[in-house]
Formats: sequence, C-alpha cells, structure tokens
Amino acid sequence: MARCLVTGGAGFIGSHLSEALVAEGHDVVALDSFTDYYDPALKRENLKSLGSEPRFSLIEADLLDVALAPLLAESKYVFHLAAQPGVRASWGVSFQPYVDRNILATQRLIEACAGNPGIKRFVFSSSSSIYGDAETFPTEETATPKPVSPYGVTKLAGEHLAYAYFKNHKVPVVGLRYFTIYGPRQRPDMAFTRFIRAGLTGGELVIYGDGRQSRDFTYVSDAVEANMRAAFGGDATSGEMTGEMINVGAGRVTGLKKVLELVEGLCGKPLAIRHEEEQKGDVTMTCAGAAKMEKLLGFTPRVPLEVGLARQVSWAKASLGAVV
Ligand code: UGA
Repeated sequence: MARCLVTGGAGFIGSHLSEALVAEGHDVVALDSFTDYYDPALKRENLKSLGSEPRFSLIEADLLDVALAPLLAESKYVFHLAAQPGVRASWGVSFQPYVDRNILATQRLIEACAGNPGIKRFVFSSSSSIYGDAETFPTEETATPKPVSPYGVTKLAGEHLAYAYFKNHKVPVVGLRYFTIYGPRQRPDMAFTRFIRAGLTGGELVIYGDGRQSRDFTYVSDAVEANMRAAFGGDATSGEMTGEMINVGAGRVTGLKKVLELVEGLCGKPLAIRHEEEQKGDVTMTCAGAAKMEKLLGFTPRVPLEVGLARQVSWAKASLGAVV
C-alpha cells in the first residue's frame, strides 16, 4: 500500500477519493486550502468520516506557496483535484483565481514532481469543458479542444502543462476529463444540488436558457474508480496510459427536463421553476466517447442516473442543515 497525495482532498470528488483510498489501505495526505468559492464549512463536513482515520491526514495549505518537496518525498501517487471550479463564474475579474489555481498551482505541483522517480503516477483532473461546443457526439479525445469558457481554457492549459512535463521530464501523467460529476457532496453551485435543495425546501430553482441543455452526467463513485484505475491500473512501467487524456463519462446523455422530472418524483413535490437567460460559457450538450476509457482504464461508468440521483437526494435530505 502506498502513500497518496490528494490535492483538493476536502472537495466534492477529492473527499470521496480520499475515503476510497483509505478503505483500500493506502495512506492519504489530503491537501486543501479551503478557498471560499463555496462555504468551507461544507468541505470540513466532507471530511467528517476521515477525521479519526489513522491513515488519513489533512494539510491546510495553498499549493501556490506550500513547501512541496517534503510533501512529495514519500508520496508515490499524486491525485491533483485542487482547482477553481465552475464554468459560469470564470468571466471578468473572477478570472484571476482560475489562472492562479488551475494554471500556476498546477505548474508548481508538476514541476515539483519532475525528476522525482518516486512518483509512480500523477492523475490530473480535467474537464469535459475543454471541448466547448463539440462538433461531434459522442466526443472522442481526438476532437480538437475548443473551450468556450475561461474556466475551460484554464483546464486545457493544465492538460497541456501536464503533457509538457510528461514529454520533457517523464512525469507519469494521466489526465481525466470528467463529465459533470454528481452525487452526495456535489458542490452547491452545481445544478443537481440546487434543484434538489429547491425540491426539498419548496424554494424556487433557476433554469438557464430554454432548459434544452443535456449532459453526460457521471456519478461520483465512477469518477473515483477512474482515478484509482488511472493510478494503479495497467503496468506502471509500460507507459500505456501515461501522457494520455481520458474521458470519464459513459456516453449516456440526459436533458435537464428529464432531470427535473426525476428530481420532482424523488422529492415528492412540484418544482417551482424560473427561467433566466442562457449563461455565457455553458455548452448545449456533452457526450463522452467512452472507448478510450474502456480500453485504458478497463471500465465505463456504471451507476445509472436514476440510482445516483436517488442517492444524492437521500444525502441532501440527511444533511439539509449543512446544504441549505
Ligand atoms: C460541471 C462542473 O461545474 C465543472 O466544474 C466541470 O468541469 C463540468 O461539469 C464538466 O463536466 O466539464 P456543468 O456541466 O455546467 O459543469 O454542471 P452543472 O452545474 O451541473 O450544470 C448542468 C446544466 O444545468 C448546465 O447546462 C447549466 O446551465 C444548468 N443549470 C445549472 C441550470 O439551468 N440552473 C442552475 O442553477 C445550475
């Protein structure tokens, strides 16, 4: 069992990954700077079950200035999930933290991994937003990336940095392009958390544009499994996966209208819906080509939307005090 560094370890996906790694017997060091993009108290809540785990430790620090050498000295696997997330919030003066946290912090971390032969894998968290309004569906990794949000631009820059360090410094990078991850602990700015909160409290929810958007919604345990397989799967020395960017989505597309129907059914109350104008940076549709994931990671996302959404609603009911 190996020591793993999980950046953004208190976040939505990072906390689930940390739990799964500890459950598999790994030692996990989670690094998180508890930025205020959303309430840091929610991130502390995410780590509740790990608090008493002897194999888990939390370092509260910023990737931009933390001393990385001691952190990396004993780490074999690096899962880089720390980021400034959110497609729609990345315009204007808000762009600076996207540059700092998605580009500069990523470069600083990978630079510190370069020349460190102890690092067996560096799993980089990217995003379907690098594709922008894709020209073909399902979208294969070979499609030309054309992000339409500043956030997507910074995620693509992160991918390119990862590749440059793989190519020139042999950092064993694998990139994962997540397709709209959902499930318990989903960030409060994301659609499902907002819809479910409205469904349970009787509040109003907002649909941007005509609501005809659709996504390849992917359950969080599938994102966790993708991370584990990207790190521990395959032959670490064959290099089959390293330097590759891999979609994390099943190629199952659901429209927002269907999502609203499901949420209404699960919450048991009619939803109060208000329409607002389309948001800049939002794409109309995402749909992952899953062949590369199947080939390199040996699986495709398994959790059906109905099942995953029901789990997220149960979680939201139980933790409503923290979420609302
Ligand atoms: C999500 C994440 O927020 C990004 O960090 C991630 O990189 C991205 O997925 C990705 O997969 O690339 P998004 O697809 O916008 O971005 O996820 P949601 O916030 O769940 O939005 C889904 C859809 O619901 C969007 O079309 C959005 O316009 C819509 N929406 C969202 C609403 O209509 N109302 C809301 O209140 C929130």
